[in-house]
Amino acid sequence: MAAPMFIASTPDLVIAQCRSGIIGSIPALNARTSAELDNDLTRIEQGLEGCQIPYAVNLVAHKSNDRLDADLELTIKHRVPIVVLALAASAKIVDAIHGYGGIVLNDVINDRQARKCADIGVDGIIAVATGAGGHTGNVSPFALMAEIREWWHGLLILSGCIATGSAILAAEALGADLAYVGSPFLASTEANTQPAFKQMIVDCAAKDVVIANCFTGANASFLLPSVTANGLDPASLWRPDRGAVDISGGGSDRKAWRDIWSAGQGIGAVKRVEPAADFIAWLADDYARARRAIAAV
Ligand SMILES: Cc1cc2nc3c(=O)[nH]c(=O)nc-3n(C[C@H](O)[C@H](O)[C@H](O)COP(=O)(O)O)c2cc1C
Repeated sequence: MAAPMFIASTPDLVIAQCRSGIIGSIPALNARTSAELDNDLTRIEQGLEGCQIPYAVNLVAHKSNDRLDADLELTIKHRVPIVVLALAASAKIVDAIHGYGGIVLNDVINDRQARKCADIGVDGIIAVATGAGGHTGNVSPFALMAEIREWWHGLLILSGCIATGSAILAAEALGADLAYVGSPFLASTEANTQPAFKQMIVDCAAKDVVIANCFTGANASFLLPSVTANGLDPASLWRPDRGAVDISGGGSDRKAWRDIWSAGQGIGAVKRVEPAADFIAWLADDYARARRAIAAV
């Protein structure tokens, strides 16, 4: 399953992902207005006519999101097959999506959050382990999966740093039903990422990913060359008090995510800017290769 990415995911990327055989996804907030979201969902539906693979939309279920009601209404109108909820989801939202037969997934970074999601009736839990792009977890996938799988028998999806076929096979070994892949698609031709961002994904590896909590209060992964290119000291971006850092110095209007680029530790596997279909074909080959290697042992 492809993970939704703020700014970067586009309707074209979702269509390419689904048409290549994996679940494509997009944050509702990538459309600038709810009216634009309505158009985007229509475009995705048209692009996926006859395709058996479902797509997903990510809704931020937090009171700070003043578009939530309107976007939820559109999600229901379009009967979006899969909804990925983030932040403060409620049983009411889950019921609304179940009302038309939709599936609800919710991402978590620890066992406590996973139990809360189970309580509100989600269909699937996305366990975001350490090394992920965007807001990252800090728990090893070995511990996170073992703790959740002990009591959760529903759909379990592993996220964080999955960028190769062997990582997908490893996710399966840990009890995951699906692997959730984000950062590699930042280098897809269909992604709404600047050419320099795409190239940075190709050029960088785990050593180039730093953690910052000063933008949202939660830990998120950013690309070191993009932090320094914006004149910021990487050491100042992680604050024990989760305090905000003013990054608008010198009259610039730079913003995290748009100008300071996020990616997870798995990007060393990304070797070129290419259509999503080509990366997915490589991923499938690499997975088959990993299976053969295991069978040969
Ligand atoms: C640039 C970027 C933007 C992201 N934006 C969102 C978002 O809007 N909503 C969301 O639920 N997750 C978001 N994520 C997190 C991903 O959905 C997913 O958890 C993560 O990419 C998985 O780790 P990986 O990048 O190592 O594959 C974002 C990740 C990245 C890299």
